[in-house]
Amino acid sequence: MTSRISVPRGVAHAAAAPEAVNAATLRTRTVHAGVDATPPVWPLSEPIAPGTAYAFRDPALADLRSAADPPEPNYGRDGLPNVRTLERAVADLEGAEDAHAVASGMAAIALIFLAHLHAGEHVVAFGDTYCEARTLLTEELPRFGVRTTIIDAGDPLVLPAAVCPDTRIVFVETIANPSLRLADLDRVAMVTRRHGVLLCVDNTFATPMLCRPLAHGADLVLHSATKFLGGHHDLIAGIVAGRRGLIAPIRRYGRLYGMTLGAMDAWLALRGLHTLAPRIAWMSDTAHAVAAFLQAHPAVAAVRYPGLPDHPQEELARGLLPNGAGAVLTFTLRGGPSAAAALIRTLRMIPYALSLGGTASTVCYPPSNQGDNRDGDDPAAAGSATIRMSIGLETADDLIADLAQALAALPTTEVV
Ligand SMILES: Cc1ncc(COP(=O)(O)O)c(C=O)c1O
Repeated sequence: MTSRISVPRGVAHAAAAPEAVNAATLRTRTVHAGVDATPPVWPLSEPIAPGTAYAFRDPALADLRSAADPPEPNYGRDGLPNVRTLERAVADLEGAEDAHAVASGMAAIALIFLAHLHAGEHVVAFGDTYCEARTLLTEELPRFGVRTTIIDAGDPLVLPAAVCPDTRIVFVETIANPSLRLADLDRVAMVTRRHGVLLCVDNTFATPMLCRPLAHGADLVLHSATKFLGGHHDLIAGIVAGRRGLIAPIRRYGRLYGMTLGAMDAWLALRGLHTLAPRIAWMSDTAHAVAAFLQAHPAVAAVRYPGLPDHPQEELARGLLPNGAGAVLTFTLRGGPSAAAALIRTLRMIPYALSLGGTASTVCYPPSNQGDNRDGDDPAAAGSATIRMSIGLETADDLIADLAQALAALPTTEVV
């Protein structure tokens, strides 16, 4: 017998709105998030439990544990204790009833689609969605009979027009990678609620420290925990949080498709999470200073950072991201692609790296669906005058000094 377990339309918004929480409370909560402090004695750092098979004398007990929601440790693909702790922690910080952690951010995105879409249904996504999520939406979902409409996020009239009776999901990023455009979540949620459509928000760039999409009307919030949640360039993980009824099918399909997260990566992600608050606060301040420096430099044609007063969505940024605008910025060199390539090669401390969100600042060409340069070892071949920078934990002064020396080394023809 086959069973469909997706949530029927119409009940998508049944649960109560998530609680409001102030930034200071949230900061304290990151330190204790996920930890079970109810027994008389508990470890302050949870032991890593890699065991993937649990032993029983009574088989009935094994069945009971598998049937529990969330399942209790039994067989590894059903979920491991460290993974469960991470899930509790992220659910807490995002103000969600439950969460499900998986093997990567892309697995989290794919799983939302696998669990909540059926052939004949339709998704609306903002045009500046992370390139690989966009590939999934535009090239993979059609193979399963699901249509996607990509819209211009900047025009508020486009979304209501794009939603049709078959639309099941609207997919946006709080701060888009790499355009850094903000999604006006309250406005988008008004549309999704009106139409009984699930609003799924990729909150990777904002993290719950800067924005909690569920409090703005989202139904599901997801992260590439590979980035800021983990925060140390040493794990790959993804997580989805939301109401219990929406997470249950995600957990079931995660098990079916085998997207299980390992114990070690879950433990590392939780350890990262405990320092998320000071990291994000520091990085946002530093990003602000670096953006201001770049903006004033004659070799730089444009800087994009949601915290700058001239960001096109400055007013929205103040409302959506009151505690900081995040740690990613982009800048475009007047000298074009050759200047960008020269700058990257001349930086002494800041390396070129394809990921972001960790302790070390990095630069990279913005990911794109057109001529993605992921495989290009030669940055000059990529042809981009724009550089994406992820701010780490170095001081603003040191980062600015490195950028200044690399900008100063550009040939003057590249500067004008
Ligand atoms: C915004 C965003 N979402 C999702 C992902 C995918 O995450 P992962 O690399 O963990 O699969 C990325 C990766 O860069 C990203 O930037």
